[in-house]
Amino acid sequence: MASFLAIAKIDVMNAKREKEMMKIREEFPILDQKINGEDLVYLDNAASTQKPRTVINAIKNYYENDHSNVHRGVHTLSVRATEAYERARQKVTEFVNSPNKHQIIFTKGTTESINLIASSVTNLIEKNDEILITAMEHHSNIVPWQELCKRTGATLKVIPISEDGDILMDKYREMVTNKTKLVSVVHLSNTLGTINPIEKIINKAKSHSAITVIDGAQAAGHIPIDVQKLDCDFYLFSGHKIYGPTGIGVLYGKEDILNKIDPYQYGGEMILKVTFDETTYNDLPHKFEAGTPNIAGAVGIGASIDFINSLDRDLCHKHEMSLHDYAMDKLERIDGIRIIGRSSNKSAILSFVIDGMHPHDIGTIINQKGIAVRTGHHCTMPLMDFYEIPGTVRASFSIYNTHSEIDKLIDALKLAIKMLKQ
Ligand code: ALA
Repeated sequence: MASFLAIAKIDVMNAKREKEMMKIREEFPILDQKINGEDLVYLDNAASTQKPRTVINAIKNYYENDHSNVHRGVHTLSVRATEAYERARQKVTEFVNSPNKHQIIFTKGTTESINLIASSVTNLIEKNDEILITAMEHHSNIVPWQELCKRTGATLKVIPISEDGDILMDKYREMVTNKTKLVSVVHLSNTLGTINPIEKIINKAKSHSAITVIDGAQAAGHIPIDVQKLDCDFYLFSGHKIYGPTGIGVLYGKEDILNKIDPYQYGGEMILKVTFDETTYNDLPHKFEAGTPNIAGAVGIGASIDFINSLDRDLCHKHEMSLHDYAMDKLERIDGIRIIGRSSNKSAILSFVIDGMHPHDIGTIINQKGIAVRTGHHCTMPLMDFYEIPGTVRASFSIYNTHSEIDKLIDALKLAIKMLKQ
C-alpha cells in the first residue's frame, strides 16, 4: 500500500511538472507536425535540439535589420552587426562564467573547437609525450589527437571504462604520469549518457601539469558550466545542441595557453600587421577567428542562452530525468532488450539494443509511427567494439518531451519487434 501511494505521488509530481513544461513546448513550432500521418515524437535531442521561436526570430531579425560584416566598417550596419556579434560573445562569457570575453572563441562547433586545439598545441607536444582520452569518446575527440600524435611522435592512450559505462578512475590515476601532456575527456557521453567526474579528472591532470580539454557538446545544454570552478584549460560546445543554430560553436580557453599556442587558420581578422616579409597576429579572441565569422549563428547562440536563462533549470532537469527513468522502466520489461550505459550518474540519454535485431531496422519501423530516434554507432565506433555491438537505438530526451511520447515509443518498439520476428 505504502509503495502504491509513493508511486501515485511521483506520478502526480511528474504530471504537475509536465504541465509546466508544456508551456515551453509551445515555443517550438517544429514539434507541431505529423510524420507519416502520426504526431511527431522527437527523441533525437542528443543529435540536435529543436529551436524555440525566440532563436528563430533573433536570426530572422538580424538578417532583416542589422546584417553586414563585423569589425570592418564604420557604417551603421557594420557597427550594429559588430555589436550584435560581440553581445553574443558576452552572453557566452557569462553562460560559462569565463573571466573575460576575449577567452571565448567562436568556431563552427565542438568538432572544430577540438581540431583547433589539436592543431594549435602542436608546438607544445613532443615525441614521448602522452595524450589521454577515454574509451567513450566521440570520433571528434579521437581522430584529431591521432593526427597530432602522427605529427609529433606522441602516444595516444585510452582510459578504460566499466561495463556500466563509467571511467575506471583508479586506472586513470595510474595512467597520469609526467609524460602526460594533455587529457581530453567528454563531460557527458553522447552514447551512454554518463556524466563524467570531470572535476576529479581535471585535478589529477593538473597535478602533472597536463593541459585539460573538456568536450561539453552534450553537457552544456543540461548542466550549468563554470569554467573558473572547473579550472580546465579548454571547454567546448556547440550551438545546435543548446537550442541554438547549427554552424556555431564555442571554445573557451585559459588566457595564458591561448596566448601560447599557434593560430589555427590564417587570413583576415586574425592579423595586426601584414607585410610581404612578416605578419604579426591579432590579440584574443581575433587571433583564432580568421575570415568572416558566422555572425547570424552567434546571434542565434546568444538567443539560445537567453532562452536557457529563462528556464527553471532544476525543473527541466527533473523533467528530463523523469522521462528517462520512465522509459528505462518500461524498456526493461521488454524481452531481449539490453541497455547500453548504466552509470549511476547519467543524463537523459538512453541507448539500447534488442536481441537479433539491427538498430537501423528498428529505427526505420518506428519512424513510420512518427518517432525520431538515432540509430547506429553515434560516432563512437571504439565504444561499439567495447560492447561488441554494431550500434544502438538511442532515445535522447529534452524539456519538450512528454511521458505519453514515451508510451508511443514503447508501443512502436513492441510493433517493430513483432514485425522483425516474423
Ligand atoms: N554527436 C551527435 C550525436 O551524438 C551528432 O548524435
